[in-house]
Amino acid sequence: MAILQILQYPDERLHKIAKKVTQVNDDTRKLIADMAETMYKAPGVGLAATQVNVHEQIIVLDISDTHDQLQVFINPEIMTCSGEIKSEEGCLSVPGIYETVQRADRVKVRALNEQGESFTLEAEDFLAVCIQHEIDHLHGKVFVEYLSPLKQSRLRAKLKKRRREAL
Ligand code: NI
Repeated sequence: MAILQILQYPDERLHKIAKKVTQVNDDTRKLIADMAETMYKAPGVGLAATQVNVHEQIIVLDISDTHDQLQVFINPEIMTCSGEIKSEEGCLSVPGIYETVQRADRVKVRALNEQGESFTLEAEDFLAVCIQHEIDHLHGKVFVEYLSPLKQSRLRAKLKKRRREAL
């Protein structure tokens, strides 16, 4: 397994649209293992392939306290969603930034597992938020894009300044 490099916002590659996985094979499973290791190491609760510059529809999640409940979604699709929830979100591609985002409170998602088998999952609350956040990444969207244009430009300026200072 390997730790992968996580793209940092604002990076244009975070806005690429991920393609569907046509065949779930050993290469897919190797990528998933690397993504999981990268997520656990960070540490984070979710990671989309887009964030490691692989533009395929793959997500890994683990919202457990014990970090042993890995959930894998290949080609995830939200079939239905309902309700509203506002929660504070963060992202491994936007370190140190936490902002409140409104999303659906319940989602029904369909995806393939690591064996290429189709499954559906009904999720609510935090898991539903995580799934929507990660699927957004596959569509080239980062959570800060839900903020007002003014907040977004302030955030970009802050991150650029921070990066300059880190050099
Ligand atoms: Ni994220």
